[in-house]
Amino acid sequence: STEQDYQGKHVLLTAGPTHEPIDPVRFIGNHSTGKMGIALANEFARRGAEVTLILGPSSLRPREEVKVLPVMTAEEMLRVAEDNIGEADIAIFAAAVADYRPLHSSDEKLKREEKGDLQLELVRNPDIAATLGSWKRPNQYFVGFALESNAGFEEAKRKMAQKNLNAIVLNSLLDKGAGFSYETNKVTLFDREGGIEAYELKSKEAVARDIVDFIARRIAL
Ligand code: PMT
Repeated sequence: STEQDYQGKHVLLTAGPTHEPIDPVRFIGNHSTGKMGIALANEFARRGAEVTLILGPSSLRPREEVKVLPVMTAEEMLRVAEDNIGEADIAIFAAAVADYRPLHSSDEKLKREEKGDLQLELVRNPDIAATLGSWKRPNQYFVGFALESNAGFEEAKRKMAQKNLNAIVLNSLLDKGAGFSYETNKVTLFDREGGIEAYELKSKEAVARDIVDFIARRIAL
């Protein structure tokens, strides 16, 4: 389909990992590549939306109509998201945000201790989806992701409620070919009204189409 059903809609997405610096050469991060969020950004743009993508450290880029705002840390991602959420009709939180960051990050490269271990003190990062969710207006539609290491249905629904999201995309690390880095993903979509749709393993581009179609059936376009 080449429909422009999202014309006039503003979509804000987060994608990729965040890197939380320990010193100038080391960080705490995770295996997200940004692929899933970029596929979503591309699909919304293809269907006529005005798309802003807040992208953590990733070597991948979306199609050129998508406005990319690159960030490094969770705190930067939150700041940029706060600055851009006002005009968004739809927000999608696909980023794998580091839940913790080092309390102190050294300006100089840490030297290896002659003997003994290094202790890192970690502090909680802000929750971007929950923060923006708490300010959501009735005419805004917010969708989160839940990455779980088990079946995860209850966890996904709990996160949807706790972060005040309209819908959530569950992907499980139990499913082969799903989650980080793969070209494919296998998702189950939930909404606040009790809707559930489970999909087969497919390319992240095809998963993005399913998610964008799911949203199109639930909002006024
Ligand atoms: O980038 P890829 O390699 O393609 O991999 C895609 C993916 C596996 C990263 C993606 O499909 C995915 O599941 N993203 C969410 C990963 C995650 O961190 O899930 P979570 O269950 O920890 O977080 C729940 C939700 O809260 C997510 O929407 C997340 O973006 C958001 N969150 C979490 C923590 C935090 N501090 N801020 C947030 O906004």
